[in-house]
Amino acid sequence: MQKVLLVCLGNICRSPTAHGILSHKLKQQGVNALVDSCGTGAWHAGSPPDDRAIKVAQSKGYDLSSLRARQLKKNDFDQFDYILAMDARNLADVIKVAPSNYSGVIGLFLDYAKHLDMTEVPDPYYGGSDSFHRVIEMLEQAADGLIENMATIDVV
Ligand code: 4NP
Repeated sequence: MQKVLLVCLGNICRSPTAHGILSHKLKQQGVNALVDSCGTGAWHAGSPPDDRAIKVAQSKGYDLSSLRARQLKKNDFDQFDYILAMDARNLADVIKVAPSNYSGVIGLFLDYAKHLDMTEVPDPYYGGSDSFHRVIEMLEQAADGLIENMATIDVV
């Protein structure tokens, strides 16, 4: 079973939203994979996602209410086949702590959104609910692209 870890800064806005979307789509498509998310920072460890993230995701059919924030840990590199960051800063922070022999994929989640002209998910933390809606649209495209990619790898 392939395992995907989605990473942002606080693990209360972007990566839990990506987590909920990817889990939902995998389940819907009958793909057996494990999804988790975390933050490079620990400020919000143990907290549920931001209220706005929960509300906007709920309106699109994604349930984030049971998710709780946690920080990236060393052991994640033993567990996950994909460790995908929401922006370049998160990616740099993941690379900084990655063991040199890590054999999975470290990259940007939005790189899987083939038709999207963006590589980073803007942090909606200081924005309004419209910024959360925009984030969901980007993350849905990335989730679709990643699932295609995972399916290809399974066949090979
Ligand atoms: P996230 O957003 O990385 O998408 O979860 C943030 C949430 C909280 C903070 C920064 C970003 N913060 O500084 O508390």
